[in-house]
Amino acid sequence: MNHSPIKQLLEMVPQEQEVLLRGWVKTFRARRFIALNDGSTINNVQVVVDFEQYDEEFLKKIHTGAAIEVRGVLMPSQGSGQTMEVVATALHVYGEADPGSFPIQPKKHSLEFLREKAHLRLRTNTFSAVFRIRHAVSYAIHKYFHEHGFFYLHTPIITGSDAEGAGEMFRVTTLSPTQPPLNDEGKVDFKEDFFGKETNLTVSGQLEAEVGAMALGKVYTFGPTFRAENSNTTRHLAEFWMIEPEMAFYDIWDNMTMAEDFIKFIVQFVMDNFSDDLEFLHQRIEEEEKNMKAELRRPMPLIDTLKFVLENKFERITYTEAVELLRNSKPYKNGKFEFPVEWGRDLQAEHERWLVEKHFKCPVIVTGYPKDIKAFYMRMNEDGKTVAAMDILFPGIGEVIGGSQREERMDYLLKRMEEMEISEEELWWYLELRKFGSAPHAGFGLGLERLVLFVTGMSNIRDVTLFPRTPKSAAF
Ligand code: 4AD
Ligand code: MG
Repeated sequence: MNHSPIKQLLEMVPQEQEVLLRGWVKTFRARRFIALNDGSTINNVQVVVDFEQYDEEFLKKIHTGAAIEVRGVLMPSQGSGQTMEVVATALHVYGEADPGSFPIQPKKHSLEFLREKAHLRLRTNTFSAVFRIRHAVSYAIHKYFHEHGFFYLHTPIITGSDAEGAGEMFRVTTLSPTQPPLNDEGKVDFKEDFFGKETNLTVSGQLEAEVGAMALGKVYTFGPTFRAENSNTTRHLAEFWMIEPEMAFYDIWDNMTMAEDFIKFIVQFVMDNFSDDLEFLHQRIEEEEKNMKAELRRPMPLIDTLKFVLENKFERITYTEAVELLRNSKPYKNGKFEFPVEWGRDLQAEHERWLVEKHFKCPVIVTGYPKDIKAFYMRMNEDGKTVAAMDILFPGIGEVIGGSQREERMDYLLKRMEEMEISEEELWWYLELRKFGSAPHAGFGLGLERLVLFVTGMSNIRDVTLFPRTPKSAAF
């Protein structure tokens, strides 16, 4: 007999079926009631034990965290709080979890405490819900693309180019750290390195995705991305997952429309298929915020926020308009912003959050950024000062998507590369896409963890990734 996932069991009509369950004990009350969970759902099943059947020594092994097997009969529940229960006929303990040392006890643990126990935190309701939703988001992403004629392209993780031109890369090398081979000029001789050149972990699969789009029409990459930026914030990881679609014959407007449709599809999918987990996280936040000052609380409860995003069109503004709005804003006039607001400077998180949370109160797409604060590959606008970039800003998160229409004109691209000192030699293959059958195209990058933050209502990116990598921290 196969064991049933608890999720499936809870959908059955109890009529004294024989069932086999395997999972972990959440609680064991009065030597009689086991709340059992196997990770398939946030919900537990109640197992009723006839303690007179077992000796004390055996019953002592059943405690929070223990892995057990239950054979039993599915019955309508006698008690309140559940509609069914499993009356156990045989119990087996696979592995105990010593109550004296197992850290995940049935009480409230702080998220900080659980970060120290990252290998066990998935046993909590909160983290199991977060990680089921992370799965749901990932699955919805593949589903959306497949249903819309995109092909999944696996772009390399080790690369020789810096796609974003930001120089925040982790080097990949097999050379000795203390005695690397030197060339005639006394510099490290990368010809001796594994690949015969300098290589890094990728910061983005975009340039390679463009190769795909220029042949398959619509493609996407979805993989790990690495940035050695020293940003110790609740929104940055050194290793995160990025989804990068790239579409031939799309302009910046098509790009925005698709991005909005895509995000709404994902949110809808999670709401339709993982409502129990969302409901749990929603309640958790409500509970958490009950005694908080109004200004510290979320502007809207979690599920209301998700519905709001589905029902409203994303606001579209230009960077120039954003700067104007910000300079006329109260916090600007009262000197409340930490960073200056000036045309030509990048918008900081505080500015983005004011636009989204205070001014528009909905997701905002900002386009037309000054060329000097954006990457070399973005298409130059007619004004010669701004590029066809787009950032999508979300309430509570800030930037979730960064994208652009790409510069498909060889002369413009070469000029930008020269201005930004990007090596033509390194990117010869990228340039050839403009030489042979060049076409307008566009795409964007969505940070998976940032979207999962939004959907789960969690507030720290370290809590939506299994083992977070951040500056000075790669524990686990
Ligand atoms: O805006 P970014 O840097 O854009 C690119 O890399 C482009 N090549 C994408 C493209 O057009 N194909 O990054 C895209 C998104 C950001 O909007 C953000 O959501 C996420 O990736 N992101 C991070 N997420 C977590 N930690 C970090 N350090 C991140 N850096 C970027
Ligand atoms: Mg960006």
